Amino acid sequence: MRKNIVAGNWKMNVTASDAKHLMDEINQGTYNCDLIVACPTLYLQMATTKDYQFSLAAQNCHHETSGAYTGEVSAQMLASADIKYGIIGHSERREYQNETDELITKKFNRLVENNMTPILCVGESLDIRQSGKHLGFVANQLKHVLDNCAIRADFILAYEPVWAIGTGETASPEQAQEMHQHLRSVLTSYQKEDTSILYGGSCKPGNAKELFAQTDIDGGLIGGASLKAESFLAIANSF
Ligand code: PGA
Repeated sequence: MRKNIVAGNWKMNVTASDAKHLMDEINQGTYNCDLIVACPTLYLQMATTKDYQFSLAAQNCHHETSGAYTGEVSAQMLASADIKYGIIGHSERREYQNETDELITKKFNRLVENNMTPILCVGESLDIRQSGKHLGFVANQLKHVLDNCAIRADFILAYEPVWAIGTGETASPEQAQEMHQHLRSVLTSYQKEDTSILYGGSCKPGNAKELFAQTDIDGGLIGGASLKAESFLAIANSF
């Protein structure tokens, strides 16, 4: 079912004491959407021991089930610690860890096998947008997963134009809506039209309302602005 969702991606930021403080502050807020916090792995279990009203997401999981992968965290481990969501395919991992659509599909499978909900990120670089091939490129990222996953389980899709992430440059509501509408049509061809599609990329309190008002935008995946409770909660109240 399409739901309004705001998810905060803290990335590799915040110390343990600041994390606790930020979560407590977020928890005191009110909002009219599903709220998800993707904090660093280290803090996830600290959060599950509290009775927070928001949900938790991992920022990543390993693509294998278990085994000799020093330093990695599996979907099974996350699920066993009560984590409900996992971000996969973020452009920073595609770029810095060379993650491919094949690998991301394996991660999708691992999450689904463990009854977790993937938050699948897709998005184009500036070069691809300037070449005019962005709609097809992003659709192919999505199709690869849907064509090759073991079970086409429910998931959340996040469109994050790479040129807008952490740059202060946001896609205009029209640019974002055009892509979201295109992705919705792809989802419809897989009978997945009820999937929530989030926009990500320099989403802030000042532009969230206009973005979320677009027909095919169901919320946001928020990086920088999720590191302050005030701005994160303001975005979560922008529907
Ligand atoms: P940003 O990051 O809001 O800081 O642009 C978004 C993301 O990477 O998820």
